[in-house]
Amino acid sequence: MDVWILGSAQAVAVKAADLCTELIQRKPDARLGLATGTTPQALYAELIRRNQRGRLSFSRVETFNLDEYLGIGPEHPRSFHRAMRESLFDLVDIDPSNAHLPAGDCDDPATEAEAYEALIGARGGIDLQILGIGRNGHIGFNEPGSSLGSRTRVKTLSRATLRDNQLGEPDFEAPSMAITMGIATILDAGALLVLATGAAKAPAVAAALEGPLSASCPASAIQLHPRATVLLDPEAAAQLRLTEYYALVDRARRRLAADSS
Ligand code: PGA
Repeated sequence: MDVWILGSAQAVAVKAADLCTELIQRKPDARLGLATGTTPQALYAELIRRNQRGRLSFSRVETFNLDEYLGIGPEHPRSFHRAMRESLFDLVDIDPSNAHLPAGDCDDPATEAEAYEALIGARGGIDLQILGIGRNGHIGFNEPGSSLGSRTRVKTLSRATLRDNQLGEPDFEAPSMAITMGIATILDAGALLVLATGAAKAPAVAAALEGPLSASCPASAIQLHPRATVLLDPEAAAQLRLTEYYALVDRARRRLAADSS
């Protein structure tokens, strides 16, 4: 794991945007795995800025979102389809037919989940998967207890997630389940880009990066990925124990960059 402790949440967004930009400039038809939620919003704002300044094009990029609530359609105000359109897709030059999310309003969720998993494979897999971390350690909607070998499927949302996503108590109005990429699906990506900002994420970040590999903390599965970059602000990094080592690595990285420039 390549752990970066940056100066601020904005620095996390800029560094994440740099990594996405490098990939898309090297591979204009890159396949990006995307996440919803609060954490990637500053990254998306930065990507939009770069796109609008003509520095970055999404015209050939294909995207696959991690998850969608079950039982609501793409126009629903709480749907991830809508959130992604409003925070990224409508504001850049992506071809909407290249922006994929599972259909929350499908008739047969198990079949939809299998089809989504198959689509990712058929398109050649995800080059770079962006991930947030839930306060309970989830990635996608892989709640604590999710199999580390899981594939895209239906998951019941935990009470912690319902609270964090302001969905209130499960009822007939609010979604209580989702279709999510599985942990093994996420680990299939060529590289992971994990973002966490703010003090509320500090315990989950420490468990994910330095705790045991465990289904109890699905984000700990990123330890298995040989190409995982983790970008943190100081608040999210506050409970890490290996900070001295991460700082050493950072110094070595800067030395190498200076030598090669
Ligand atoms: P957040 O969610 O970015 O809204 O904190 C992260 C997640 O639930 O994965």
